[in-house]
Amino acid sequence: MIIRHMEPEDCGAIIAVAAHWWGSSYTSDMFSSWYIRHFRDTCLVAEEEGRMVGFLMGFWSQTLPDEAYIRIVMVDPAARGQGIGRALYEKLFEQAIASGRTTVRCVTAPWKKDSIAFHTKLGFRIEPQQQELEGVPVCLNYDGRGGQRVMFARRLSR
Ligand SMILES: CC(C)(COP(=O)(O)OP(=O)(O)OC[C@H]1O[C@@H](n2cnc3c(N)ncnc32)[C@H](O)[C@@H]1OP(=O)(O)O)[C@@H](O)C(=O)NCCC(=O)NCCS
Repeated sequence: MIIRHMEPEDCGAIIAVAAHWWGSSYTSDMFSSWYIRHFRDTCLVAEEEGRMVGFLMGFWSQTLPDEAYIRIVMVDPAARGQGIGRALYEKLFEQAIASGRTTVRCVTAPWKKDSIAFHTKLGFRIEPQQQELEGVPVCLNYDGRGGQRVMFARRLSR
């Protein structure tokens, strides 16, 4: 497996697999050539024998110079459990440290138990909230529309 930066030309391949890999419809402005052009340095593709098997999209915070943010990660369901998700995250951690970032953040939906398990294994801690759902701290209005999210943070060290 190799990990490389995403290129604007990758957006068609990503759109083609996003719903299948996510498990339900997933459309986003992120899957566009303009987004990838501007965030290429923090968007990664995992490939096996020239075929995309996973991708990650993140960014360095402009407002918080110590922070990196991972917006989305998806791995081909046929290739899960083989360390591809971990490899994508660890590559971004490496780049984030080199860019002087000391914290990486991301969020997931409280019902995505697989994602919570994955992030916990990768060393993220769940940030405390005023409310808990089934024992998990959850931000109840993450997006101003009542969206619920588990908020993760992980310290980065050299
Ligand atoms: C979450 C996801 C990216 C994990 O990718 P993956 O390549 O299967 O994960 P890895 O094989 O690298 O696993 C890394 C660690 O997480 C653990 N893990 C991964 N999925 C897990 C699960 N469903 N349950 C428990 N642990 C899990 C692995 O055991 C592994 O631990 P280890 O390295 O200590 O052995 C993948 O399941 C996916 O694409 N899900 C759909 C999209 C999604 O939910 N994205 C996250 C929210 S943005």
